[in-house]
Amino acid sequence: RRSIIIDTDPGQDDGVAILLALASPEELEVLGITTVAGNVPLSLTQVNARKIVELSGRRDVPVFAGADRPLVRPLVTAEYVHGRTGLDGCDLPEPTLALGEKHAADFIVETVMGRPQGSVTLCVLGPATNIALALAREPRIAGRLREIVWMAGAMSEGGNVTPAAEFNVYVDPEAAAKVVAAGVPLVMMPLDVTHLALTTAARLERLRALGTPVAMAVHALLSFAKRFDEGKYGTDGGPLHDPTTVAYLLQPELFQGRHVNVAIETAGALTAGMTVIDWWGVTDRPRNATVMRGIDADGYYDLIIERLGRLPLA
Ligand code: BDR
Ligand code: CA
Repeated sequence: RRSIIIDTDPGQDDGVAILLALASPEELEVLGITTVAGNVPLSLTQVNARKIVELSGRRDVPVFAGADRPLVRPLVTAEYVHGRTGLDGCDLPEPTLALGEKHAADFIVETVMGRPQGSVTLCVLGPATNIALALAREPRIAGRLREIVWMAGAMSEGGNVTPAAEFNVYVDPEAAAKVVAAGVPLVMMPLDVTHLALTTAARLERLRALGTPVAMAVHALLSFAKRFDEGKYGTDGGPLHDPTTVAYLLQPELFQGRHVNVAIETAGALTAGMTVIDWWGVTDRPRNATVMRGIDADGYYDLIIERLGRLPLA
């Protein structure tokens, strides 16, 4: 069983990733959920994370608030994708679960330092600001983490905020640069993977057919989210980004990738936030990440639908 911390900026797809993890207690021990500014401001992401935890029935999982802005840049949000609340599409009740008192970065540091060497995995679903802050506060966590699995970046697919940059890297490229250089085993799920895993009408219908309150809520959230993507990409459904990270922790065989060098562009006038991925090994820069490029999309949705059908867990 893996022990994980989920760092997130919910976001409908973040919400599904959290639910997938909380529905899988045999494989994943969720030590806590840390929130960051990204899709919407921190004042909303920390509330949204608690709403999702309550929806799952897992009120035992603590939620913490972290950075309310990127390391050096002003915050860029994505209400145009996720709606004003970040969880538009479904009116979840205001949470009664209290917000943890620590800063997210302190929770990460204390948890990683306090648990056995190599036992904690960070599952990162938003801009990497909290992770960079934790690494700065206690650099020894780099050598103690088991792994970081991050939904981030884009290679051949191109960016979704600028032609070069994917949102999670674009929002805080300086933090991303620190994370890829930290020497922690890193798995990245770029848009090249997530754009192969669309919320098609048939997949959403399978979810709706579960008929449970959790499945209906997720159906509503994803129906909202796909409107933007369908309009933009002309596809049947939109990419379901963030749950790829949790699916990888549950069933790594769903994904194919390569261990390569990834560097982050922080200076480019047109390319800030670009993930420069040396797929063909044309540089001698050291390999620092496994970048996924293939996914068994049907297997991915089978997993999500089966697990969400188990919720709520008491
Ligand atoms: C990423 O950006 C956010 O909008 C999503 O939640 C996902 O983490 C995709 O680029
Ligand atoms: Ca996200």
